[in-house]
Amino acid sequence: MIFVTGGAGFIGANFVLDWLAQSDEPVLTYDKLTYAGNLNNLASLRNDARHIFVQGDINDGELFAALLSKHQPRAILHFAAESHVDRSIHGPAAFIATNINGTFSLLEATRAYWQTLDASQQAAFRFLHVSTDEVYGTLGAEDPPFSESTAYAPNSPYSASKAASDHLVRAYHHTYGLPVLTTNCSNNYGPYHFPEKLIPLIIANARAGKDLPVYGDGLQVRDWLYVSDHCAAIRRVLEAGRPGASYNVGGWNEKTNLSVVHTLCDLLNELQPKSGGSYRDQIRHISDRPGHDRRYAIDARKIERELGWKPAETFETGLRKTVAWYLANDAWVQQVQSGEYQQWVDLQYKNKEQA
Ligand code: NAD
Ligand code: TYD
Repeated sequence: MIFVTGGAGFIGANFVLDWLAQSDEPVLTYDKLTYAGNLNNLASLRNDARHIFVQGDINDGELFAALLSKHQPRAILHFAAESHVDRSIHGPAAFIATNINGTFSLLEATRAYWQTLDASQQAAFRFLHVSTDEVYGTLGAEDPPFSESTAYAPNSPYSASKAASDHLVRAYHHTYGLPVLTTNCSNNYGPYHFPEKLIPLIIANARAGKDLPVYGDGLQVRDWLYVSDHCAAIRRVLEAGRPGASYNVGGWNEKTNLSVVHTLCDLLNELQPKSGGSYRDQIRHISDRPGHDRRYAIDARKIERELGWKPAETFETGLRKTVAWYLANDAWVQQVQSGEYQQWVDLQYKNKEQA
């Protein structure tokens, strides 16, 4: 079987669902269920004997070690993290605790377990660490995209904590020989995306008749990848990636934030027109994020060359599917927004100056 940490979050849940749609190899999902973790994401697996859910913190090395010894997984896919840049600006401590200390704890438990395996099991074992392009920092308009040899230069507490975790993972390979793999992916979007991130926030606010907040001039650039393409890349890296290597994963799809918001408004105008006017009328520029990275772009040639992966969705097809999913899943959005969500919205957006 495989273990998936953070499997009740956005990308982890998509990964678990896609995995079990394509394979009968069982999955143990290990998740603390923070504000971002949601068992409803995995509701379709409730009576599926191939799936086990355990609520736990990745800092709880004892619990994790007991699960390793009981279930003897052949791989650990590590998605669990604090993942929101804006939250890391308001409260970095949780990012240090989970992304750095938690990854360390997981590596220690994994190393101890891996050392109990026989030589052929050790050789076949994988620890796959899911990371981000944000570890590379920010690009100027004319700079080449991030490659696997770009120097790390993280700028936010989130990206700094992910960079630290990447370094620990790398060190466990070089020092102990643990067969690790790291993926550094660009911004994902798709079903089950928590509605405090740009794309689901814009969809939810547009439909609720609320302001569509754009930080600063909105000309910051991100590369966007549909989540199932990211999941396919991870499966491929797990299957054929070289232990110790890292792989950049991206959509070859750079967009300004403003153009993403415009496209979302236009899709909503088409799929759920509002009476009198366009959703674009709700756009408001507000004060910028401190230390806001201007541009991310991914050179994803290595994973294509070595492993034959490339994205299946274009931004147009992926975004249309995403908007359709949110339109069809009001109950999911309402459930998510009924929790701690409102406190976050007040903290982040209330009394924000117009830019
Ligand atoms: P998410 O915030 O939606 O989900 C994170 C999950 O981890 C949640 O289910 C949460 O309960 C769980 N978790 C948090 N702290 C934990 C802890 N201490 N112990 C156990 N579980 C814990 O995040 P996501 O967007 O699904 O991102 C998943 C991974 O992918 C992260 O490592 C993130 O850095 C990386 N990543 C995300 C993106 C993106 O665009 N969202 C892009 C590239 C890489
Ligand atoms: P986000 O989804 O938080 O991802 P990340 O910061 O990891 O790239 O934000 C994507 C971009 O959208 C980022 O440049 C910040 C911007 N943004 C806004 O302009 N308004 C918003 O309300 C949010 C949440 C993000």
